[in-house]
Amino acid sequence: MNRPASRIPSKKAGRKRKPGAARRGERRLDAEVERWFAASGAAFPATRASIIPMLQAAQAELGYLPGDAMQAIARHLAVPPALVEGVASFYAQFRFTKPGRHRVTVCTGTACYVRGSGKLIEDMQADLEIESGETTADGFLSLESVSCFGACALAPVVTLDDKVLRQQTSTSMKEIIENISDAPRGRE
Ligand code: FES
Repeated sequence: MNRPASRIPSKKAGRKRKPGAARRGERRLDAEVERWFAASGAAFPATRASIIPMLQAAQAELGYLPGDAMQAIARHLAVPPALVEGVASFYAQFRFTKPGRHRVTVCTGTACYVRGSGKLIEDMQADLEIESGETTADGFLSLESVSCFGACALAPVVTLDDKVLRQQTSTSMKEIIENISDAPRGRE
């Protein structure tokens, strides 16, 4: 007579991998990412609801989301890396390239555009030799655009790091960037 299969899970089947631990054969992650994970990432509950909070925490600490950070999150939550990457790429708040030491954001919303922000960002792109969304090769500055800061009365609005700059022009922005304390010599 055949005996029914036991419903009691074997010890082997019930053994769980420690959250975040690399499986045998998995490569080690970037040291900076491992430091972030050990210091704060590992404290997040290992459920799918942690994906966005973990992505936000990693970006807040690392400045962007390197592939290894998404890998660490996927390992911790025991989900496919593609799932974490898919969630991250869905939201505009996440960045996937290392930001420059300074960040200039030009508003290209209607109020700013009609007051010249289109030309302003074009001139900045030409001057810095990067496109919007990129960082200069020396890591000095990242250039970005937004569709409205909600400060249309100050148009055209630009932010430099945490500073809001009102009514900017190509000339005024060139001068401001040249005067950033750690500006490379060629920009002085
Ligand atoms: S359109 Fe630029 S701040 Fe609103």
